Amino acid sequence: MHNRRTVLAAIVGAASSALTLSACGGESSTGSSKGGTIGIAMPTQASERWITDGKSIVKNLQGNGYKAKLVYGENEPATQVSQIENLITQGVSALIIAAIDNTSLTKVLQKAADAKIPVISYDRLILGTKNVTYYASFDNEQVGRLQARYIIDQLGLEKGKGPFNIELFAGSADDNNTKYFFSGALHLLQPFLDSKQLVVQSGQTALKQITTLRWDGATAQKRMNSILATTYKSRTVDAVLSPYDGISIGVLAALRAYNYGSVSKPLPVITGQDAELASVKSIIAGQQSQTVYKDSRQLAEVAASMVDDVLNGRKPQLNDTRTYDNGAKVVPAYLLQPISVDKTNYDSVLVATGYYTDAELK
Ligand code: GAL
Repeated sequence: MHNRRTVLAAIVGAASSALTLSACGGESSTGSSKGGTIGIAMPTQASERWITDGKSIVKNLQGNGYKAKLVYGENEPATQVSQIENLITQGVSALIIAAIDNTSLTKVLQKAADAKIPVISYDRLILGTKNVTYYASFDNEQVGRLQARYIIDQLGLEKGKGPFNIELFAGSADDNNTKYFFSGALHLLQPFLDSKQLVVQSGQTALKQITTLRWDGATAQKRMNSILATTYKSRTVDAVLSPYDGISIGVLAALRAYNYGSVSKPLPVITGQDAELASVKSIIAGQQSQTVYKDSRQLAEVAASMVDDVLNGRKPQLNDTRTYDNGAKVVPAYLLQPISVDKTNYDSVLVATGYYTDAELK
């Protein structure tokens, strides 16, 4: 897709020229307007990944000759709806949206459709409306499979080891990705749950029991605290399936409060996602075990290329036109591949590619 690799090098260098955004519902407008203005609605600045995504999308759009308006809904669905309404009123040529609540955008996307504004669903699939033009994301089932594979390998489950105690965490129930991450992971873990090599001592295994509203680390910390207090008085937890780095950091805080992290009581194997700085540092320090890296620079480039193609009457490059049914249509998608990262490969995957510098990881 359009010299993706070469563009990446430019983005890495340019990413440091940060946009100025206010803390809540920030908006930034920047770039030449030759190709029109593109509205970008991101979920929150509370998580580093969305800040990186926003900057990368802006840089890519500018590189293609567009102006960009970037807004953050700070995890409030209603704020995001009104931000998108404003972008439509301001006459944007296209919208790139990472939804906060995937089912809350039907009305506002009808307004976009009435104004003939194409919509790219970014990372998270928007549900229940035909007014989504394309979807750009990663292979979300594969994210879950990579997390499960890590736990299986670290515990030696395929060598017959066990039984081990595991606790399960999932993402926000209003995010369509949540179910893909969990089903991908469960697909690989289920045989070991069936054989009782893995035991969920809390008994909380159904998706609705283990979701974490808005992916909030403090919410996950609270749930882990209560599980440790009630279920693990005389047991230890050996693994935690965590779908996202912010959740992993919350779970780790709970574990430390229960004296995990010593020679006699080592931390469990704990997964994650997004390769956020705090988590990569935690991996290097031997706390969080693993994360799933999704190169947001690539995702931004895919989304910006989709916009450029659709506005110029071209069909973008797609690699999945079957999987992502949003309830109103199957949204044609381009999916990138995630990569599992731990202390053995963070250097080659994250540092050698310029995602982080050595200095940032110190
Ligand atoms: C998901 C996304 C993950 C993670 C999470 C929390 O939708 O796919 O990579 O960022 O949101 O922000």
